[in-house]
Amino acid sequence: MLFSRTATILSLLCVQATAISPRGSAASYSSLDSFIASERKIALQGVLNNIGPDGSKASGAGNYVIASPSKTNPDYFYTWTRDSALTLKMLVDEFIFGNRALQPQIEKYVKAQAILQTVTNPSGTFLPNGLGLGEPKYEVDGTRFNGAWGRPQRDGPALRAIALMAYSDWLINHNQFQRAKLVIWPIIANDLSYIGEYWNQTGYDLWEEVLGSSFFTVQNQHRAFVEAGNLANRLGVESPGYLNALEALCFLNQSFWNGEYIVSNINVDNGRTGLDGASILGSISIFDIDGSCDSPNLQPCSSRALSNFRAVVNSFRFYSINAGIKNNSGIAVGRYAEDIYQGGNPWYLLTTAAAEFLYDAVAQWRNQKKLTVDSTSINFFRDLYPSIKLKSYTNRDNEFNKILNVVTKYADSFVAIAQKYTPSSGSLAEQFDRNTGAPISANDLTWSYAAFVTMAQRRSGQYPASWGSAAASVPPPNCASSSSQGVYVPAIAAGAPNVTATCQYPVRFYVNATTYYGENLYIIGNTTDLGAWNLNSALPMNAGMYTTENPVWYVDAQLTAGEPVSYVYVREQDCGQAPIYETNNRTSVVPECGTGGSTIRRDVWVGSGGSSGGC
Ligand code: NOJ
Ligand code: NOJ
Repeated sequence: MLFSRTATILSLLCVQATAISPRGSAASYSSLDSFIASERKIALQGVLNNIGPDGSKASGAGNYVIASPSKTNPDYFYTWTRDSALTLKMLVDEFIFGNRALQPQIEKYVKAQAILQTVTNPSGTFLPNGLGLGEPKYEVDGTRFNGAWGRPQRDGPALRAIALMAYSDWLINHNQFQRAKLVIWPIIANDLSYIGEYWNQTGYDLWEEVLGSSFFTVQNQHRAFVEAGNLANRLGVESPGYLNALEALCFLNQSFWNGEYIVSNINVDNGRTGLDGASILGSISIFDIDGSCDSPNLQPCSSRALSNFRAVVNSFRFYSINAGIKNNSGIAVGRYAEDIYQGGNPWYLLTTAAAEFLYDAVAQWRNQKKLTVDSTSINFFRDLYPSIKLKSYTNRDNEFNKILNVVTKYADSFVAIAQKYTPSSGSLAEQFDRNTGAPISANDLTWSYAAFVTMAQRRSGQYPASWGSAAASVPPPNCASSSSQGVYVPAIAAGAPNVTATCQYPVRFYVNATTYYGENLYIIGNTTDLGAWNLNSALPMNAGMYTTENPVWYVDAQLTAGEPVSYVYVREQDCGQAPIYETNNRTSVVPECGTGGSTIRRDVWVGSGGSSGGC
């Protein structure tokens, strides 16, 4: 209600200003302007509330960004590398655009991530091979999360490097070259080592569901390679992994495009169309105000990105709340049409990302003073501007501004959808119900807030400096898989502990234990790898080989070589009844480092059985 009242006052005041506004009439947009102005503040504060240890909704967290304060259904009280990095990229840009009060948050992130890089976790260790950097999420105090999860996720290191590179540029431009080189660069170099070594291997996508090759991930890896190469030149150092920049571009260019849209995950067989809002997020996260619309990295203004945008948006018309909305007006956008997670609804961050994508494209055309319509992009334009022609419009053409205006208006209409379904408090959950529009799933999602702010930045003409996308924009004619061995060094100057290499030894545990449907088994033990007797960190076992004749559960664990362990198996009951532990401790010694091979342990459950609570 606050908004519409403000809107009326503003529309009275704004009549004159509108005459020169590129955005259209005051009557239709002043209310959106005031919504964005007030929601941008709420969103920035919403982000800060979710950063430990002082954020009002992050109590109990260390120096980490929590995904959401929600602790049940879903439990998002963890720190994800991806969500944190995207959030920090927004904060660094806010800082660069003038909000200097944010610097302590950025410095806190620098230190916390330097430490986090060294934490051994179920994806692996930091030394000697960097595999631990692919871990998607950690406990809010920065310790490992042992639960079953879609891991590794290889977008995290790229996104973190991108956030830290933006800050490094600012430091260099503000006479702090040494700090950029000696403190921040070592963290970036580890992440670049990781993606240089592993970019071409499959991993889980950003939605943590699909093991394959994700367009979003490769797009960000490509950006990180190129941007780090440019930064390394400024710093006078070598950038690990740079040689993969063009191979990643080649892969992007040749493998995901199906003639109409980007198939967001390939090397998978998951029965989906591949239309996915992730491809819109990818284009906005590699947006370069000086980028070329012809670049194969698919800048927002590229014909393929525009055609893809149209196809992805249209794939969400089946949501009831989108019924009847015309093709030239924004709708609610979700992850992908087949999604069922938490009801498979539209997401705030994807709906505002759609707007951001369009603001980016408009900014690029305006910057280049040119807009080329070809057979790939013409349908996108025709929906908005029916008399569009196959040609290049330049800023000397009087239609040029008209086209930019309709695209901007179209962008605004996506924000208006987000506005419509934002509660009057301004709080942003993860999703909103596809039938009723009511907020749903995790409340106060940090990423929803961060995405709102980046959209508002672009809408108000705030663009991050170029990441130098022109430097490596011509892929080789034939793609090859590539990998360069990484060098991993704890970023001690930034606060990382001086860890030394530990060797993990793969051990497969089998336990013969008859269970009822709904009961789960875990292994737990005295070492950190086995959860240090903390049930929340016990390793979940897998029933994939279980049969009535051979009721066996198993888990593949990575254990610290040479360490003596004591462990038991534990049964988790179906209705929250007390867990059932085995009645005696088992002991074993993990083989020494360098002995090669792997070990198998076969156990038989000792202790009482479980029974269903019948809930
Ligand atoms: C949690 C993930 O974060 C989410 O993306 C996924 O859809 C669900 N797990 C279900 O797999
Ligand atoms: C589920 C999303 O699919 C994933 O991308 C995100 O990292 C987590 N939730 C935490 O917000």
